[in-house]
Amino acid sequence: MNVFDFQKMKKEGRKISMVTCYDYSSARVVAECNVDSILVGDSLAMVMHGHPTTLTATTAMMAMHTAAVAKEAPAKFIVADLPFLSYRKGLKDAMDSVQELMSAGAHAVKLEGVRGHAEIVRHIVDSGVPVMGHLGLTPQSINLLRGMKVQARTETAVEILAGQARELEDAGSFSLVLECVPSEAARKVTDLLKIPTIGIGAGPSVSGQVLVYQDVLGLNPGFRPKFLRTYANTFGLIQAGLNAYDRDVKDGHFPSENESYEIHPANLHIAKHAA
Ligand code: KIV
Repeated sequence: MNVFDFQKMKKEGRKISMVTCYDYSSARVVAECNVDSILVGDSLAMVMHGHPTTLTATTAMMAMHTAAVAKEAPAKFIVADLPFLSYRKGLKDAMDSVQELMSAGAHAVKLEGVRGHAEIVRHIVDSGVPVMGHLGLTPQSINLLRGMKVQARTETAVEILAGQARELEDAGSFSLVLECVPSEAARKVTDLLKIPTIGIGAGPSVSGQVLVYQDVLGLNPGFRPKFLRTYANTFGLIQAGLNAYDRDVKDGHFPSENESYEIHPANLHIAKHAA
């Protein structure tokens, strides 16, 4: 998978699948499944570090998680999020962040919005780094959005969304995440662009889908937004496994003789003498 495959898949009407991945052990699983690409999303601040928003993600955090994922899934196309404000403090700071994420093993970076940083997108792309855009619900702007709400619900808002999507395409982005927008808005943007759109809560008329690993696998049982489909009850499965282990430890059933070491027979006389 590379940026050209993204374009090709949209052209051929083949859907692109993407899942977030933040650590080495999950990357082992993703590396051996059919999902096309990985997003090391700044949602890791919430999912892996328990913060209430993504605003606390830093470039150092993103690079550390990207490196862990890249070690185990180097054959997948890895997109890493540029965190909150990292691309809003001037070109040098933005490029330093891009360099850190690419050195950690990312193949592309993602950033939210376009207003005020289209030139930076262009510069990143001209420097040889693919950029994925992100419009609609942009969690890094949570404090301007009055919460995690569906965006682009009016005709005017859809027009603005379409204009921003065009701007990102013109600046050289290779694809675009559309988060929590009505299906009709996502379809309009997807039809307008040559580059593929990757939806999350954006309905079926997009070029591909992205979901958070923990959400797809049911590791986040309290989280039930309308757009989410959970494909496994991993929380329950792990819980049952851990409870079985706990029971065996407490009943004295673990470890068994077979799971224990013994002194090598040749050394038994030494052990006897020592006793
Ligand atoms: O950080 C993230 O997980 C994301 C996805 C929701 C697209 O940006």
